[in-house]
Amino acid sequence: MTDSTLRTVTLIDDLTGKSWKLPVRDGSMGPSVIDIRKLYTDTGYFTHDPGFTSTSSCESKITFIDGDKGVLLHRGYPIDQLAEKSDFLEVAYLLQFGDLPNTTQKTEWIKNITYHTMVHEQLRSFFNGFRRDAHPMAIMCGVVGALSAFYHDSTDIHDERQREIACHRLIAKMPTLAAAAFKYSTGQPFIYPRNDLSFAENFLHMCYAVPAEPHLVNPVLARAMEKIFILHADHEQNASTSTVRLASSSGANPFACIAAGITSLWGPAHGGANEAVLKMLIEIGSKDKIPEIIKRAKDKDDGFRLMGFGHRVYKNYDPRAKVMQQTCREVLSELGLRNDPLLETAMELERIALQDDYFIAKKLYPNVDFYSGIILRAMGFPMSMFTVLFAVARTAGWVAHWQEQFSEGEQKIGRPRQLYTGPTLRSFVPLEERGGKTDAEAFISEWQRRRSDTLTG
Ligand code: ACO
Repeated sequence: MTDSTLRTVTLIDDLTGKSWKLPVRDGSMGPSVIDIRKLYTDTGYFTHDPGFTSTSSCESKITFIDGDKGVLLHRGYPIDQLAEKSDFLEVAYLLQFGDLPNTTQKTEWIKNITYHTMVHEQLRSFFNGFRRDAHPMAIMCGVVGALSAFYHDSTDIHDERQREIACHRLIAKMPTLAAAAFKYSTGQPFIYPRNDLSFAENFLHMCYAVPAEPHLVNPVLARAMEKIFILHADHEQNASTSTVRLASSSGANPFACIAAGITSLWGPAHGGANEAVLKMLIEIGSKDKIPEIIKRAKDKDDGFRLMGFGHRVYKNYDPRAKVMQQTCREVLSELGLRNDPLLETAMELERIALQDDYFIAKKLYPNVDFYSGIILRAMGFPMSMFTVLFAVARTAGWVAHWQEQFSEGEQKIGRPRQLYTGPTLRSFVPLEERGGKTDAEAFISEWQRRRSDTLTG
């Protein structure tokens, strides 16, 4: 962002007639911002923007999105080119360091990451504390946070080298932990990482190999997995990345910050949407049910939304969804599932929704999650693993943003304010003056409740 304070906008208080000039700052692309950092000091007002729909929370050089045109650039490079021509670790390098690596840098980077793919043996025993039917995202919240208890030599956030090693560890260990969460649910033994394989091949190997026999990773599926990881690697200040930045602003260690990002990603309005899309497609079952589901999505009184449609930023086709649709075809064709009924339902749903006035008026297009579930299901992942795979990929973006915060100079704790609408000042009322049951009455009614529960089983 250029520090040009030449341009201003004027804020006028209609009540008092006072006015203030607020500086406008320009980025290298995208809308300019009104710098309101001194607003409260100068005017006594806060701004009110729940959901941050009009608020830039930080300055960043990593990712640019033009939601109206459907453009997504990482450090200036279009996402479709990266998905087609690059690989996940190269994109992770790009996000973190700002440029594509040369051959020496790439070799060094891959060495640094693969050196950290194993997890402490003791950490593996954490998994046994979970029920076999635990959601793998619940396991990931626990085990990623627990990394803080194992790698004390990379938790000092003021030490640049420790921060660097923490990033290597997080990118490297996420697939190992994710595959372990998957294996735990199937009851199969954990498979150790193999550093001779690519990032995606190693992950698929850890998920699908068994010790009893050799396992060859299908190259078409490995390439598709690599693309899925690239497409999910970063997306500027989304909910989980903002969560990582907010957690980090308090000085929390990197493993705790990424665990916070994972919890935020879990929700169905964010990373959990791919799971929700597949459940929805299965529920629809056949093409003839589509008009009914579209009707429900448009009905304000029915809380249902078309999952995998709409986006806070994209008011055009999500560029990642285009690549995902093509990848979906490639994977299904490789697996001999060209006429997959779920893909047919999804494509028909997309066709009908894109012609519907409601979706046109609200600019609702398929997002990255609309096709990813179909691919992952065909590859053999259960729905509960979809968001976990998203977390593996997004770790590259999370750590890049986490590192970028430290390059901004002064670290300021993220602390939004609020529009308070609760009670005004009042005096404390002692318990005995507030009415309700006496202790004896409360005891009898509780005893009666428990007795009735026992009788009714
Ligand atoms: N189906 C039906 N109507 C929708 C949908 C949808 N999928 N998405 C938005 N709308 C409608 C809303 O009802 C609202 O209508 P209104 O103006 O009449 O009240 C309008 O479009 C705007 O929706 P908001 O919720 O205000 O938009 P917001 O930017 O806050 O939400 C979100 C974006 C959460 C992604 C939303 O579109 C959604 O819930 N989509 C389904 C879930 C999903 O696919 N999430 C994945 C996002 S991508 C990702 O995280 C990787």
